[in-house]
Amino acid sequence: MVLNGQAHGKLLLFGEHAVVHGFPALGLTLPLRTQVCLSPDSDIPLNGPDHASLVARLVPYMGPGALHLWRSQTWHVRVDSNVPMGCGLGSSAALTGALARAVAHGMTEKRPESIRRMAHQAERHFHGRPSGVDTALALGEGLVTFHRIDAAVLKTEPCTIGPFAMVVGTLPRTHSTRDMVNHIQDQLASNRDTTLARLSRLGSLAVLPDVTESAWTLLGDRANEAHTLLRSLGVSTPALDRALSIGRAAGACGGKLSGAGGGGAFVLFCKDVTCARQVELAVTQSSECHTHTYQWDGQGLVTTGDKTS
Ligand code: MEV
Repeated sequence: MVLNGQAHGKLLLFGEHAVVHGFPALGLTLPLRTQVCLSPDSDIPLNGPDHASLVARLVPYMGPGALHLWRSQTWHVRVDSNVPMGCGLGSSAALTGALARAVAHGMTEKRPESIRRMAHQAERHFHGRPSGVDTALALGEGLVTFHRIDAAVLKTEPCTIGPFAMVVGTLPRTHSTRDMVNHIQDQLASNRDTTLARLSRLGSLAVLPDVTESAWTLLGDRANEAHTLLRSLGVSTPALDRALSIGRAAGACGGKLSGAGGGGAFVLFCKDVTCARQVELAVTQSSECHTHTYQWDGQGLVTTGDKTS
């Protein structure tokens, strides 16, 4: 039997790092996809190397049922993805989410919460203490606020906000998610009160009021404040700061890094797509980044055509 699964990339709008320590976050599922195909047939058309050895490392995290299925025969693994790898847009969560869905097709236990748990556990291979937001967004749809109820439960709530546009960019990464999460942990150990106050404020910025008009102004202001806090926590880089300054000067209302930092993803909020196109042009002309413009129409994400770079 051939087992297929797919999951998405994600964008954290607010609350990265804060959510690891129990504060809220706001994230969005992106229309980027990873597909995993497990096949007992060695004739599976591979688009690159057989990813069986990577999957063999992930499956033990996913529990006895998944491990039993994996060991029941020899599997060949094909992975197709347009989620940029290791750039802060959730490539590892998209992979573990797609794998969990594929594996669940071969198991009797297929409940969404079990799939989410398998994906979340497998994410631990990539970094020690994932909060669960990346895998939830990889497996879910839309713009959602996350509230941590306790160590095991993350409550999600759809977020209502009016239209805005945004430029999402990625820069080469200088540090991994694991490094950045550990860096915050070190700061908590050495400077607990200040670090907790910063994380708490980052979490508060993630809880948006219902705003239907001029949402971009609220998002831009909050993004600028969040980025200042993230920078003070030491997770930004000069290249991220520079790309954001260029984007703001070109007309964005505000911007911030997105995800763990140490390079990687950033987001610049704009009034509309025309403004976003100008911002995208300015940013790509003066830095080594890849960008994409998206539009939120108040209900869902609208992709606005080809990348500038
Ligand atoms: C990484 O995309 C987001 C972090 O908050 C880690 C996590 O939530 O697992 C830095």
